[in-house]
Order: sequence, then structure tokens, then C-alpha cells
Amino acid sequence: MPDRSDRSTAEPLEFVEATKRYPGAPKPAVDKLSLKVPAGEICVLVGPSGCGKTTAMRMVNRMNEITSGDILLGGRSVKDRKPAELRREIGYVIQHIGLFPHWTIGENIATVLKLQDWDKPRIAKRVEELLELISLPADTRDRYPSQLSGGQRQRVGVARALAADPPVMLMDEPFGAIDPINRERLQNEFLRLQAELRKTIVFVTHDIDEAIKMGDRIAILQEGGKLAQYAPPAELLMYPASRFVEDFVGSDRALKRLALQRVRDIDLWTAAAIRVGTPVAEARAKIEEADVPYAMLVDEGGRPQGWLSDRGLTGERVTKDLRSPAEPKVELDDVLRDALADLLTSETRYGAVVDHTGALAGILSLEVIQQFLHAAPAASPTGADLLTE
Ligand SMILES: Nc1ncnc2c1ncn2[C@@H]1O[C@H](COP(=O)(O)OP(=O)(O)O)[C@@H](O)[C@H]1O
Ligand SMILES: [Mg+2]
Repeated sequence: MPDRSDRSTAEPLEFVEATKRYPGAPKPAVDKLSLKVPAGEICVLVGPSGCGKTTAMRMVNRMNEITSGDILLGGRSVKDRKPAELRREIGYVIQHIGLFPHWTIGENIATVLKLQDWDKPRIAKRVEELLELISLPADTRDRYPSQLSGGQRQRVGVARALAADPPVMLMDEPFGAIDPINRERLQNEFLRLQAELRKTIVFVTHDIDEAIKMGDRIAILQEGGKLAQYAPPAELLMYPASRFVEDFVGSDRALKRLALQRVRDIDLWTAAAIRVGTPVAEARAKIEEADVPYAMLVDEGGRPQGWLSDRGLTGERVTKDLRSPAEPKVELDDVLRDALADLLTSETRYGAVVDHTGALAGILSLEVIQQFLHAAPAASPTGADLLTE
């Protein structure tokens, strides 16, 4: 029976003026929230404490009943579904993961599978597969929650939520109780996992940096569960829709944008890559054509050796006479923020960008970074149209 995770499903999710008013409360906790989450994307709900994030999320699986409006899962109202059935079908991960202490890890992961009457061999196979997916050794299956670290327990919580291959996952501050180093590790792991699984995910956090890192789209909520802005991270940082959003994303939003982009994503400058022994006339012609007025001496593999001095370009052929070393070296996969830090630390105008073989791939300069910051983000075809009015 095929139950492999590579056959995973995902459904689009849509909030349609979804409103929650708790009995006796003077104002709604969530007020006419409308937004679409395309299948396979992570939508982060972010905002200050008490702004209605958890309430909004829990309306999806009817842990909180919708007062008015609707939520559509795969085009179908959740109000037409049985709550018990929804909770079985929708993966749910919370901060203190709530593993059963007297059950083994294997039994904990299999919770929903047992409710769905899977037979034993099929459960065993699925548990094995899930442990591998979350990078825990197979023998973790027979251990107990207290024998695991906080980070490992949180991974088990993710595995448990993924067990029945849910079309949607709800994650409420899932890494909030983990120390910063392990949190970063869990975030990275989860993004790798998601690149493979492509689940539709609603992810709640109060941490804007986590939102920017994890979200394909970010919904910023303000007090009373009002949607302040719904946009992809770069757009949010570039064009905050209000003073509230601007304050919430912080004054370092330019730096945050740089942390979202890799060196390979921007238009680099060119420099002439010259080998020792090249005819000087040929070298000079190449320098003419390049963006940068200096030439980079490279070895046979195209790897930068240093910037050529004028003396290296005086005779018949280029000699190894350098004006300065090829520092800093920046890799195509570096995030722009780190590359900028390297440029500033080494106090040079030009950074040599190298590919995975170490060969020169282009030049990074402060001007290039500045141009990137001033350019509009790539037009987002799905930005505005995801807001259902
Ligand atoms: N069960 C409840 N009964 C009454 N009010 C609640 C309940 N749960 C949350 N609230 C209120 O609703 C608002 C939103 O809460 P919540 O969704 O938990 O916010 P967040 O997750 O953004 O911190 C808060 O004012 C909170 O006090
Ligand atoms: Mg909450």
C-alpha cells in the first residue's frame, strides 16, 4: 500500500472574513481576517502578543469555533467537517510539544496512525521513515520522551504531525522554547524538509526574524486580530504598508533584506580574469571591456590569485606582480549581509566572488549592494491578489 511521504498532498487554505469573538469580550480576537495560502506554501502569522495569532490558527482545525466568516480548506468550508476528523487530518505542532511521557517515541509518532486504524507493519514502516526524515537514529523509536533533548522532542512533534501525510500543518511557536542555536538548526532542518514535502503550513511566531526566515508569505496582525499587511518577506521589508508594520519589522529592515538574498541572486560586476603569460595587449583589451578597472590574476582553474599591478602589465606578457591580494573572497551561496560585512571589514571596494570550484564568478562592490537595495523587489505576481477583499 503506497504511503510514502513523496506522495504527499497539500491543499490551499483560505480565510474569508474569518472572525472570532470570545463570549463576553468587548472586541473580536480576530476581526474579518481574509487571506489565501496557496498549496505548498508557508504562511507565517506574526504580531505582538495577544493580537490573535493562536486564535486565528486554531479556527482552521476548529479548536476555536469561527464566529462569522469562513475558512476553506481545499475549497471546502471547515464548518462542514467534523472537528474530530479535522484534528486527525491536520498536523498540529505546539511549543511544548505534549508528548505522552509513558509512551515510547514510536508510539507517540504513531498516535494519529492508530486512530486511523493502520495495521502494525504499516505503522512500523511509517515510523521508521519519519525518524529518518527528521534525522533521528532508528533506535530512538524505543526510547521515552524524557531521554531526549528539547530539540529532539520538538523534532518528534514534527514527525508526529506529519505522520498521516496531512494536507495542512498548523505550527504554533513550534521552536519558541528552544535555545537560539538549536532553534536555528531546527528552522534550517524544517525548511529543508519543507522543500521536499511542500505542505501548506500556517506558522505562528511573535519573532519577525523567524517570520522572515520561514515565511513564503507573512501576515502581520495587529491588536484585535486585524490584518496589517500580507506579503512575501522582501515586499514587506521594502514596502511596509503602515507605520505599525514599519515599526514591527524594525529599523534594520535593509539589513534584513540583505539576509534574505544570496550573492548569486544579484547582478555582479565583471573583472578581467588574466593568467600569467597572457599578451599584455590582450589583457588590456579585456580590462577595457570589464566593469572594474583592475584585472584579477587567476590560475589555470580560474581561481583568483590577486589584483594585478600596473607593473604586471608593462612588458610583452603579463607577469605576477600584484597590487593587493584577492581579499575578501565571497562565495555565490553567501547571504548578502555576510558578504557586505566581509567587504566592510577588509576595507576594500571590490570582493572577488567565487563559485564552488573556487573560480572567479564576478565582483561584488558596495555599489552593487546599494543598487540591489534601491531596486524594487521582483514583481510579486501573487502578492495583492491573495488578499480576498
Ligand atoms: N479562550 C479564550 N477566552 C477568552 N479570550 C481569549 C481566549 N483565548 C484568547 N483570548 C483572548 O484573545 C486575544 C487573542 O489571543 P491569542 O489568539 O492567544 O493571541 P496571540 O496568540 O497572538 O498571543 C487575547 O486578547 C486573549 O486574551
Ligand atoms: Mg499565541
